[in-house]
Amino acid sequence: MRIPVALGERSYDVVVAEGARHELAGLIGARAPRARAAVIVTTEPLRGEPWFDLATGLEQVVVTVPDGEAAKTLSELEVLLERLALANLSRDDVVVAVGGGAVCDLAGFAASVYRRGVGVVHVATSLVAQVDAAIGGKTGVNLRAGKNLAGTFHQPWGVLCDTAVLATLPEREVRNGLAEVAKCWLLEGRPAAAVAGTPREELVEVAVSLKARVVAADEREGALRAVLNYGHTLAHALEALARARGDDVRHGEAVATGLAVAARVARALGRIDDGRVAHHDAVLAAFGLAPWATPAYEPGALIEVMARDKKAHHDLTFVLDGPDGIETVPAVDPRIVHDVLERFEEER
Ligand SMILES: NC(=O)c1ccc[n+]([C@@H]2O[C@H](COP(=O)([O-])OP(=O)(O)OC[C@H]3O[C@@H](n4cnc5c(N)ncnc54)[C@H](O)[C@@H]3O)[C@@H](O)[C@H]2O)c1
Repeated sequence: MRIPVALGERSYDVVVAEGARHELAGLIGARAPRARAAVIVTTEPLRGEPWFDLATGLEQVVVTVPDGEAAKTLSELEVLLERLALANLSRDDVVVAVGGGAVCDLAGFAASVYRRGVGVVHVATSLVAQVDAAIGGKTGVNLRAGKNLAGTFHQPWGVLCDTAVLATLPEREVRNGLAEVAKCWLLEGRPAAAVAGTPREELVEVAVSLKARVVAADEREGALRAVLNYGHTLAHALEALARARGDDVRHGEAVATGLAVAARVARALGRIDDGRVAHHDAVLAAFGLAPWATPAYEPGALIEVMARDKKAHHDLTFVLDGPDGIETVPAVDPRIVHDVLERFEEER
């Protein structure tokens, strides 16, 4: 399955298939016939996986960065840029990110600023990267002040989502990605009962197709692309509190809670009825996601963080279901959210 991201001269395809990683050399050859060298950016654990047999068709160097979120710092960006320079990468050459969202975000950032921009291809290896992080051109690293606060928009030359590499992905990371798929399922109004019979490759395609459509219509994250943040207003707050308190919370777990709570906020505002809330719960359950996998945090503390969220434009902005579908709703009364969070905890 080849899903186009239509962005004029920055257009590219997302290939979702078993064995998609073997298209790497062909993709680079087609996009950059003058390329001579490639730097493959990955992590030590991934380099040791059985599927790490990547051929770019060029002179290639493998550079490893720290695994996971530890890669996403300004100092790691600097180290990586020096490695690209050391490899003598020219403007015609290419960076290949092989990894989860963290590697794609860092390598994409490096590619966007190295020599004022070189091409990047993402070989997305986690489910989160395949259904979300590798598509859309957002790159970035974290600052002490918050996640993803420094970054660029830099569309890749292509994204390869090889479903075969998911075989080695730990179960918790699979669920992490399924939360984003559940979000897409809800955004598309698909029935909960249809989840069970859908093969994983098709689940990836559903999410990729939605993201590709939204990115094509709204490349730099205006109003439309914001719907992809469904469930994320609360999720970001949960993750921020978890970080501050040293709790182990994965993004997908926070998104599952965020989606369940968003449904309840929409109901409290009279936008949807009990049946729609039950639909949200049923979709989450069908994906094996528990809305209460995250720790119970004080509603007041969560609201304080949400009000500071960079995406919330300094008031409580939620993406909410409603009579006209799922849309951005600004200026949500914090007292209503407080009430919903309290009652959500009682349901636990
Ligand atoms: N740019 C965007 O639009 C965007 C969107 C969503 C998320 N993100 C970012 O993505 C990051 C999260 O991505 P993630 O969930 O992939 O986390 P991650 O990149 O930290 O990967 C999670 C873990 O899975 C391992 N892993 C990845 N693929 C594997 C495989 N096939 N087999 C075995 N292990 C594998 C990694 O080595 C790592 O230990 C966050 O930093 C987030 O901010 C960016």
